[in-house]
Amino acid sequence: MRILNIGSMNLDYVYTMDHIVQPGETAASLDRNVFPGGKGMNQSVALARAGADVYHGGMIGPDGQLFLDVCAGNGIKSGYIRCIEAPTGHAIIQIDSSAQNSILLYGGANRCVTEEYVDEVLADFGEGDVLLLQNEVNLLPYIVDRAYGKGLLIALNPSPFDDRLNAVDMDKIGIFILNEVEGCQITGLCASDDIIVKLLQMYPRARIVLTLGEDGAVYADARQKYYQPVFEVRAVDTTAAGDTFTGYFLTGLCEGKSIPEVLKMSAKAASIAVSRKGAVPSIPGRAEVEEALKEK
Ligand code: RIB
Repeated sequence: MRILNIGSMNLDYVYTMDHIVQPGETAASLDRNVFPGGKGMNQSVALARAGADVYHGGMIGPDGQLFLDVCAGNGIKSGYIRCIEAPTGHAIIQIDSSAQNSILLYGGANRCVTEEYVDEVLADFGEGDVLLLQNEVNLLPYIVDRAYGKGLLIALNPSPFDDRLNAVDMDKIGIFILNEVEGCQITGLCASDDIIVKLLQMYPRARIVLTLGEDGAVYADARQKYYQPVFEVRAVDTTAAGDTFTGYFLTGLCEGKSIPEVLKMSAKAASIAVSRKGAVPSIPGRAEVEEALKEK
């Protein structure tokens, strides 16, 4: 099964901090690293390292060669990535001493997707293919409408949530993968069980995966519901943990594995990602995840 991901590519400027800077405060960082990231690229790398057949689409600027290298190094088909005259997107990420982060995004080239470009890419895809989206590129309503019209199964990670998502026809989404904050923003409810019930009322044909941070993850559709606890690790950087979960979940689902198996594999992959620094560099490969699952 082919998975097309039209998604963001960000250069992540990651600052290690004692604490996340408060409004009006100036604080010195303890360290700085630059990693490839962006929810789109992180999820493509997670898909590919999990074993999926991945096609990445989106826009970079002349400073974005790194992303073509990441694709080449991970077996991701990069032929749909366009290099345009706009700066590559970037993110300023602060990581505090408890591994929590705060992220400031600059969309740059990620927000230069055009209808012509979408039509050109989707011309090569149709029924039997999967489209994965996040909310870091522009034109999501158009992309969703066109992909749905062509019969693709659409998986949406509505992250980061903002008002632009209100223009997306969510009835066309087959799989939602979201965290509690996004679930609360979409439903107006904040307890995880309430979020699931409400989302299934709103989108009864959809499959929902709700990640709950340290409290694990829940899968639900109209017929079944499963809970997966986290695997405890010493967290150093939670960036891309959700992206890793998303990539592994979608891969397992496309392989036809059972939902409990898919959830377990995804949780293990995410736990490994949080034990390492960076976005793309933290995402484990399938063999490592499977080996770690055998350990007690
Ligand atoms: O999900 C983590 C990602 O969010 C980072 O890599 C950053 O680029 C932002 O898009």
